[in-house]
Amino acid sequence: ETAPDPAITELQPWQQYLGEGVDARPYGFPSEHEAHVVRRNVPWLTADATSSVNFTPLHELDGIITPNGLCFERHHGGIAELDPGSYRLMINGLVDSPLVFTMQDLLRFPRENRVHFLECAANSGMEWRGAQLNGCQFTHGMIHNVMYTGVPLRLLLEEAGVRTSAAWILAEGADASGMTRSIPLEKALDDCLVAFKMNGEALRPEQGYPVRLVVPGWEGNMWVKWLRRIEVGDQPWHHREETSKYTDLLPDGRARRFTWEMDAKSVITSPSPQAPIPHGPGPMVLTGLAWSGRGTIPRVDVTLDGGVTWTEARMSGPSFDKSLHRFYHDFVWDGRPMLLQSRAHDSTGYVQPTKDALREIRGENSIYHNNGIQTWAVNESGVAENVEIS
Ligand code: MTE
Ligand code: CO
Repeated sequence: ETAPDPAITELQPWQQYLGEGVDARPYGFPSEHEAHVVRRNVPWLTADATSSVNFTPLHELDGIITPNGLCFERHHGGIAELDPGSYRLMINGLVDSPLVFTMQDLLRFPRENRVHFLECAANSGMEWRGAQLNGCQFTHGMIHNVMYTGVPLRLLLEEAGVRTSAAWILAEGADASGMTRSIPLEKALDDCLVAFKMNGEALRPEQGYPVRLVVPGWEGNMWVKWLRRIEVGDQPWHHREETSKYTDLLPDGRARRFTWEMDAKSVITSPSPQAPIPHGPGPMVLTGLAWSGRGTIPRVDVTLDGGVTWTEARMSGPSFDKSLHRFYHDFVWDGRPMLLQSRAHDSTGYVQPTKDALREIRGENSIYHNNGIQTWAVNESGVAENVEIS
């Protein structure tokens, strides 16, 4: 006979009074018991919070959609607080008729809904020279995955009438950083969205309210927030974010440019350093995320022994193009230490490389575009740590 469980036999506080009624929380918040599930920054990474980054708590999330309040933030000039009443989007340059759209104008164009990941090119950048940050929130948390509602950029460009000499567009933000990026016209006409909703509600100020550019599969820097102007031109502009930044310095001192597409990548989100195994040996669930800027993820492999043996993981949830995919591996843990890794295969047949294989080609000078395989070492107590093995 076991002792009675007070969680069952005792009257709990919440059974002894009436709860708050409707309208007590006109815009809801998570339970107070989830207060630790927040975006976090790494204070030593940047000098100032207005030109900085914080990270999505991937280790606490499941499924494929990132809740709006937890989408990582990356600002070059702080959060711009635009008034939608005075919002204007200009299209100028090599067009037949330069146009200015208000918010109301944009809402009269046919719109689309699509789920896409946004990954900063600098995601995992701090791991180039070795294991550094202890948690997938910090190693992989410069990513979010959202259902966007927006107008295809193609429709707005067609309205302005793109000249035959045009080959590029410049997207410009209305924030204090006035961030700009050159984008090939082909991409702009293909699948870019001028988005105003995320996961059904208005974009959050942090994510570019009222309007941001969505550039599916391509590095996050190009997804200009607080979008105010699209200039059409015949060559790239060579601005700051595509020259001194967001280029990949190679071992011979030259830099790769215009590496826009995000290569296939994956990470085990639990167990991970911030999400140790809370129980002993026995049945357990391993889970993680995989994505590719080139398509979908038909397959993810996982290993518990540092790559000696691989098993195909179980995918669960919708498989959208250029979106996060969720995988699981359900197994019986024998209680012995593990070296956990995941390896993504994308729909083009590309397989996620090891960090060593990446460094062989790219050297050690890079920051951007690190899609190498991540290793977590788990000890007998279920505590996980960021390590590298070769
Ligand atoms: N757009 C503007 N106007 N200003 C910015 O600072 N940061 C860029 C991009 N768009 C930025 C911007 C970078 S580097 C990234 S990774 C993404 O926005 C981050 O988007 P998020 O804040 O929604 O995560
Ligand atoms: Co970025």
